Amino acid sequence: MSVTVIVGSQWGDEGKGKIVDILSERYEIVVRYQGGANAGHTVLVGDQQFILHLIPSGILRENVLCFIGNGVVIDPKALLEEIKLLEGLGISIAGRLFISQNAHLIMPYHKLLDSINESGNSKIGTTGRGIGPCYIDKYARKGIRIVDLLDHKVLEEKIKLNIEEKNNLLKKVYNQEELNVDAIIKEYIEFDKAIDPYITDVPTVLNNAIEEGKSILLEGAQGALLDVDFGTYPFVTSSNPTSGGASTGSGIPPTKISSVMGIVKAYTTRVGLGPFPTELLGEEGERLRKIGAEYGATTGRPRRCGWFDAFLLSYSRMINGIERAAITKLDVLSNFDQIKVCVAYEIQGKKLKSFPTDVNKLMNVTPIYESLPGWKTDLTNITNYNELPSEAKDYLQFISQKSGFEISIISVGPKRDQTIEL
Ligand code: GDP
Ligand code: IMO
Ligand code: MG
Repeated sequence: MSVTVIVGSQWGDEGKGKIVDILSERYEIVVRYQGGANAGHTVLVGDQQFILHLIPSGILRENVLCFIGNGVVIDPKALLEEIKLLEGLGISIAGRLFISQNAHLIMPYHKLLDSINESGNSKIGTTGRGIGPCYIDKYARKGIRIVDLLDHKVLEEKIKLNIEEKNNLLKKVYNQEELNVDAIIKEYIEFDKAIDPYITDVPTVLNNAIEEGKSILLEGAQGALLDVDFGTYPFVTSSNPTSGGASTGSGIPPTKISSVMGIVKAYTTRVGLGPFPTELLGEEGERLRKIGAEYGATTGRPRRCGWFDAFLLSYSRMINGIERAAITKLDVLSNFDQIKVCVAYEIQGKKLKSFPTDVNKLMNVTPIYESLPGWKTDLTNITNYNELPSEAKDYLQFISQKSGFEISIISVGPKRDQTIEL
């Protein structure tokens, strides 16, 4: 029996989709526990690329069952499109996808409010998928959940109540047009018809599966530094991507979780606004973006790129409890003569003892680097650790030692077979 949490260890887009796909060959169940269609998890099967936003990346292995946990916020349109797309590509969904009754629904006003917030002075650079406003309603105890779809009278009442309030806000505060209640009610009733067969009591099913000795992967979205509690607040998402969120977002208690694996990109990227101490603004950053194809899987935005930050990673390791890591995109560094790794932060000549999550402080740190020789060799066909150039091995050993985790997987390309297991 193994219940493993897969967490993004940096600012998202570490390659979680690829690693979950690789590992799910050996697991029976994959569960998404937070976030929503802000996520974009890429999996390559042969030459076919899949970008998953809501459905767990285990869906591409036909024997794997996939669950969307209560911690996820579900956009009906995005979910139906994803199901349709996958079915069109020959992936079976019926009988393999299960959705928690307690998951919250993204409503049209959430997306609208997301875009209104982003046009104001407190811009975060969100994905515009309505994530923040949906979680706001969840915690304000006004949200509409999957379970509400099951009784259309309750659904109608809840939508009416919410829209009355939102229309007031839209009209009086934001000077926007009012929303059409009837059209929205109709849309969500249609959605219910489409997803009714998938709705399940997820905590009970998952805990029974654990009792039966089944193995489960918990697939996080985003990354630790985007966590609303532990990330670079306010430049974060509105959920808990860190490993603690795997319990609250699925109903699997902490005592049943056996390990936490961190997905770690061999350098650093970030999309959207917020501090990024090791960001490379010149030619080297451009080179990482180009070779690494660093453009958002959800929004297409260019990702900001920079050197590996071991100081950040040791913080991420601590708050997630990462024991083992999968290092991704090592191949992207093949082109550099020298590769830098940030090992500490300084402010006014004084080394910081711990990672600052106060953005004002983080904006003012000076990263302290150590430089390692590059390997200048193509890694994309290497499948055995021993065949890696010694400089690449030294780099891996250096980042693992400075960050405090063991490495168990090394990814040298987006494809399934471009993977080295230790
Ligand atoms: P996720 O959100 O963490 O699942 O990551 P994304 O899918 O948003 O971004 C990772 C990108 O890197 C995708 O385009 C993957 O196909 C690609 N990728 C994953 N692993 C590797 C790797 O080892 N090398 C290279 N070159 N690309 C990779
Ligand atoms: P995956 O799962 C990278 C970022 C956005 C923005 C901030 C808040 O593919 O790694 P939101 O729409 O969540 O309110 O935006 O979080 N962000 C991501 N960055 N990968 C993601 O997901 C992200 N999901 C959200 O760019 O800075
Ligand atoms: Mg992504």
